[in-house]
Amino acid sequence: MSQQTLVLIKPDAVARGLVGEVLSRLERKGLTIEAMRLRTMDGELADAHYADHVEKPFYPPLKEFMTSGPLVSLIVSGDEAIAIVRLLAGATDGRKAAPGTIRGDLSSSNRENLIHASDSEDSAKREIGLWFPDRG
Ligand code: PPS
Repeated sequence: MSQQTLVLIKPDAVARGLVGEVLSRLERKGLTIEAMRLRTMDGELADAHYADHVEKPFYPPLKEFMTSGPLVSLIVSGDEAIAIVRLLAGATDGRKAAPGTIRGDLSSSNRENLIHASDSEDSAKREIGLWFPDRG
């Protein structure tokens, strides 16, 4: 089933010059970039995007990191795109993510883990609406 998913190439990836690497992995898998924008997340958008996590102990450092510099927001589409992008991203903690995944190959951190990808159809719809209000 063709799906759309929201991807963020996080500030650590932009700072490390890995935007092209991440985009290339998505494209080589056969996914399509439908929309793409470089921007810096403000606190209000962070609170909305991470609404399920704002009460968690890891949220303050996560928010500080995600608002620390520019990131790239994307709408990515393709057959089973939501699950496929999560597979390509790998486990949340880069220290535990499998080799061959974006995080497993390129991150050694639980926080600076390069990429966010929607985890369900409901999240994808909600997150696309937040980041691309004209496309949601
Ligand atoms: S949960 O509680 O299992 O739903 O959380 P999880 O899906 O693992 O992570 C949700 C997002 O929080 C980030 N995260 C952290 N950031 C900073 N420090 C710590 N310790 C930490 N643990 C989790 C994680 O990278 C997820 O960010 P996104 O943008 O959704 O990938």
